[in-house]
Amino acid sequence: MSITRFSRLGFILAAVGSAVGLGNIWKFPYVTGEYGGGAFVLVYLITALFIGIFVLIAELLIGKIGQSDAVSMFEKLAVKNKKRWKFAGFIVVLPLIILSYYSVVIGWIFHYIAISFEKLPTTVKESTDNFMNLLTTDYQTQLFYHTLVFILVTAIVLKGIKEGIEKINKVLMPLLGIILVILFIYSINISAFSKAVHFMFDPDFSKLTSTAVVVAIGQAFYTLSLGMGIIITYAASLPKHTNIVKSSVLIAIIDTIVAVVAGLIIFTLLFDKGAESTKGAGLVFISLPSVFYEFGSAGKFLALLFFIAIAFAGITSAISMMEPTVLYLIERYKMTRAKAALICSAFFYLLGIVTLFSNITDYAPSLQVGDKSFFDWVDFVCSTILVPFGGILVAIFVGYNMDREKIKEELIPVMGKSLFKIWFFMIRYIIPVALVAVILNETGLFKF
Ligand code: PHE
Ligand code: NA
Repeated sequence: MSITRFSRLGFILAAVGSAVGLGNIWKFPYVTGEYGGGAFVLVYLITALFIGIFVLIAELLIGKIGQSDAVSMFEKLAVKNKKRWKFAGFIVVLPLIILSYYSVVIGWIFHYIAISFEKLPTTVKESTDNFMNLLTTDYQTQLFYHTLVFILVTAIVLKGIKEGIEKINKVLMPLLGIILVILFIYSINISAFSKAVHFMFDPDFSKLTSTAVVVAIGQAFYTLSLGMGIIITYAASLPKHTNIVKSSVLIAIIDTIVAVVAGLIIFTLLFDKGAESTKGAGLVFISLPSVFYEFGSAGKFLALLFFIAIAFAGITSAISMMEPTVLYLIERYKMTRAKAALICSAFFYLLGIVTLFSNITDYAPSLQVGDKSFFDWVDFVCSTILVPFGGILVAIFVGYNMDREKIKEELIPVMGKSLFKIWFFMIRYIIPVALVAVILNETGLFKF
């Protein structure tokens, strides 16, 4: 088994590329608005620090010591019950399943890039109609862009860690940074900026319920791509002598900055035109496009830059969703990278087509289960239940099953004894319990 290694910068950019995605741009601003602005941001920062970064460290640790695909690492590093722990490796298929609809959404973004210059909707009503039309009737357009994403992602992953994943992240991540800076500077000069700042940073503690805390934990997890073998897989390609504590802090800080900056940009633009903050897809594909129109000719550029930025964020996350299974197939079944990549991409592509048609009115009834479309089910089961469950497995594995001496050997030199004790305590006792709370809350089994 010879694992190709990232360069130091390449690794950070690839991990940031995975972390920074739709979660930062449409989920974070929305949940912030929903759960009390500044108070939520505060709780989120605390959970990102103590849960996000701590689990990030745990996942980097597994990859750094394990040096293989995620499934083999669980098996290899388990001190007892090796055969059973191997099954924890099932988490590698989660991102591939998530990718099936993530790809469809990136496809919508491509479509919006294409129309942003020419056909911005002039009213909220028109914007709503456009998006609903795309979503529920226009399967040709969705299929076209889903196919494009499929080709792009396959082409990049095919080229491997260095030539594919590292290279594309080294190009797209700096570009994404530049675009965000441009949009941010533009926003600062709009008077509604201060309103956006107040909205995001004035703590309204009355809105800060226990639900908000649980939501913050779930968000910290999703946004850092934890609990599904992605970071574990990338970490197997860590350059030797990487300080995994410093790397984790850096990755989490950049991810958080992007979320906060994206939030400030989005709210400034919305507030300036008196628009409301809406939920997820509605925020990006309905509210913003109609607001862009009101900015006149500058709005065309804003729209273009904004959608290009999300497309970059999405593509770099998409690649990371495929790599865990690809590496698994390469390592366990001795497949060539080309074959492994094609099998994985065919899987998400076909599943994506099913999720896509589950939103098309003519087909929806046959793809509806209970009150949710297939699309919503995949999102719900994977991102809200199985991802935190993957996190529980990681915490229990590192906290109770891995060789403790090896962990100490790896971490104490870079974090010191006292911080190590806190980290280990959190991993063993607090994080599994917190993640169980997330699952109970999200499934409605127990509402916090
Ligand atoms: N972290 C990404 C985001 O915030 C989401 C993601 C999920 C990335 C699953 C990879 C895998 O959008
Ligand atoms: Na993120």
